[in-house]
Amino acid sequence: MKKTVFILLAAMLILCLAACGNEGKTKPSEAKTPVGPASEADSAEGSSRRASAVSSDTAEGKGGILVAYFSATGTTEGVAEKIAAIEGADLYEITAAEPYSSADLNWNDSSSRSTKEQNDKNARPAIGSDPVDLGGYTKIYVGFPIWWGEEPRIMDTFVESCDFSGITVIPFCTSASSGIGRSGQNLAERAGSGNWLDGKRFSGSVSEADLRSWIEGLN
Ligand SMILES: Cc1cc2nc3c(=O)[nH]c(=O)nc-3n(C[C@H](O)[C@H](O)[C@H](O)COP(=O)(O)O)c2cc1C
Repeated sequence: MKKTVFILLAAMLILCLAACGNEGKTKPSEAKTPVGPASEADSAEGSSRRASAVSSDTAEGKGGILVAYFSATGTTEGVAEKIAAIEGADLYEITAAEPYSSADLNWNDSSSRSTKEQNDKNARPAIGSDPVDLGGYTKIYVGFPIWWGEEPRIMDTFVESCDFSGITVIPFCTSASSGIGRSGQNLAERAGSGNWLDGKRFSGSVSEADLRSWIEGLN
């Protein structure tokens, strides 16, 4: 009888110590992945949405992986989320300080905001999301939609604000039909740091299997 009580007490003590040991621990990925500011415009059609984070243990273990993306209408975001799920990566959404409205995105209007920005190689739309801390990341996927055959200028703003030294950077994009073209090279040149791999274009409906085989081919 005494032996049974002793075993029970010992088991309770071990359980208590295990529970206390987990208190107050924050995953590095949760601590460093910023969440963009909410704004009224977040609900507007065609506007950028808030940043979100997918929890992962990668920053502690095999090297952190980040999927950073800009998505005006949600297509690139869907692909970014699939890549993050496959890689166990953190997600960082690049949002515009001034969100893009439907009128801003009208490519049939030669005076729309997006047309004017794409016609000006020096345009650098301001970013609204909090800056991301790249410390601890060894691999970063950079995603964006194709606008007029190229990366949106806000992607130039983003890469110019980052130090990718020691990081492998993998561009990807979505589009109606255009390929990624020179966008990857443009971004690499503007960034001036990082080991940039060739980029790839996906349709919004790309399957997880196709993404997985692309990712495996990168390694
Ligand atoms: C201003 C603008 C320009 C675009 N230019 C092209 C283009 O040159 N070629 C193309 O195939 N698709 C083009 N598209 C379509 C987008 O690339 C495509 O819908 C993309 O998947 C949208 O991604 P998002 O929802 O993440 O913003 C353009 C879209 C916009 C808004």
